[in-house]
Amino acid sequence: MNAPLPAEVLKQHLIDPEICIRCNTCEETCPIKAITHDSNNYVVDPEICNGCMACVPPCPTGAIDNWRLMVRAEAYGVQEQLGWEELPGEKALPETAAAAPAGGEPDAQQPVAPAPSTAPGATVPPWSAAHPYVNLYTHKTPMTATVVGNYRVTGADTESDIHHIVLDFGDLPFPVLEGQSIGILPPGVDAQGRAHHARQYSLASPRDGERAGYNNLSLTVKRVTEDHAGAAAHGVCSNYLCDLAKNDKVQVIGPFGHTFLMPNHPRANLIMICTGTGSAPMRAMTERYRRRIETGENGRLLLFFGARTERELPYFGPLMKLPRDFIDINLALSREAGQPKRYVQDLIRDRAGVVRELLADRNTCIYVCGLKGMEVGVLDALRDVTMQAGQDWSILHDALRREGRLHFETY
Ligand code: A2P
Repeated sequence: MNAPLPAEVLKQHLIDPEICIRCNTCEETCPIKAITHDSNNYVVDPEICNGCMACVPPCPTGAIDNWRLMVRAEAYGVQEQLGWEELPGEKALPETAAAAPAGGEPDAQQPVAPAPSTAPGATVPPWSAAHPYVNLYTHKTPMTATVVGNYRVTGADTESDIHHIVLDFGDLPFPVLEGQSIGILPPGVDAQGRAHHARQYSLASPRDGERAGYNNLSLTVKRVTEDHAGAAAHGVCSNYLCDLAKNDKVQVIGPFGHTFLMPNHPRANLIMICTGTGSAPMRAMTERYRRRIETGENGRLLLFFGARTERELPYFGPLMKLPRDFIDINLALSREAGQPKRYVQDLIRDRAGVVRELLADRNTCIYVCGLKGMEVGVLDALRDVTMQAGQDWSILHDALRREGRLHFETY
């Protein structure tokens, strides 16, 4: 066990600005609102943080897991951290502070056992997931990829301008797994004259490449022209990516993500629940399974996919060509003329029998990706189908989280 720190010494929790991809996961996860951000950095307030560690496992990059022994009175304040471009080095403590007095109280920000998880999903990968590589390329050492494809995957006459973009890495290694993401550094500067921070995108291709055996990967990118409230807004990175031409160069960092990973053992079943561009990791996982149909090792695939209309559902054509005995497809369309509005959670309830059957199998993992608002709806639907059969959802939910079998990636 660690000896308690002297009262005037703080093990200060810091975020590495060079690795952080500003995905907001830590701020959302912190149970006591100790994390805040501005347009430059995400930072931890030393006055509030109690070192509970709740934010550490969900961080896709590990930028959150930095600690410095500090004299408490000299702790880095929020304003100072917001201005950082890199983490300061370790400082030697004065000898009087370094010596622990007998019976010293544990420090308030000394990491303690994690608080009970309130996260909707797991913070660990499935037991059989392959080992992911993360942070091979950072803001300081980005890699240059070449655009080898960029085409629209939604109907040309629709508002949803979603692109399938293929990036090639040439001779440089860029190992990835389905469910991981990469960061794109858009060129130019923000309103404060600072280089734009990276934007994170999930991979839409499997580990062996968009084209099997090639050193490339694909992304599913929606051109952002309005904010969540519907007001006009220009998405810096999404517009940059959607407008790229073949042979353009792109600055890439990553890969990121060590939990939203697929199981790697034979006969693992996947329940995939997504809306819009949340289909990217589902495409990657489905393609991984499709490429190994011949092995006979696949478990079952059950997909719930939500979009406004068929024409706004990315990859509609190729998806519908997949054999029905390979993947069970359930489309929830919310604005299709002449049809009732359907959300993915409605279809989960409609298919309660098959959902329950798969949930009862410990070889089943569930992946949810897409709109933030879907999280509650999906959890309620899973709870309802479980409870209809007289089972206790809270016990199953805990097991799914503990065993890395329920994963959320929402925005
Ligand atoms: P809606 O027609 O009500 O917006 P988008 O095209 O904006 O990316 O959305 C993808 C799909 O997700 C749409 O069908 C949208 O329906 C649906 N959606 C919106 N909010 C929710 C929610 N809270 N739960 C599930 N699906 C939702």
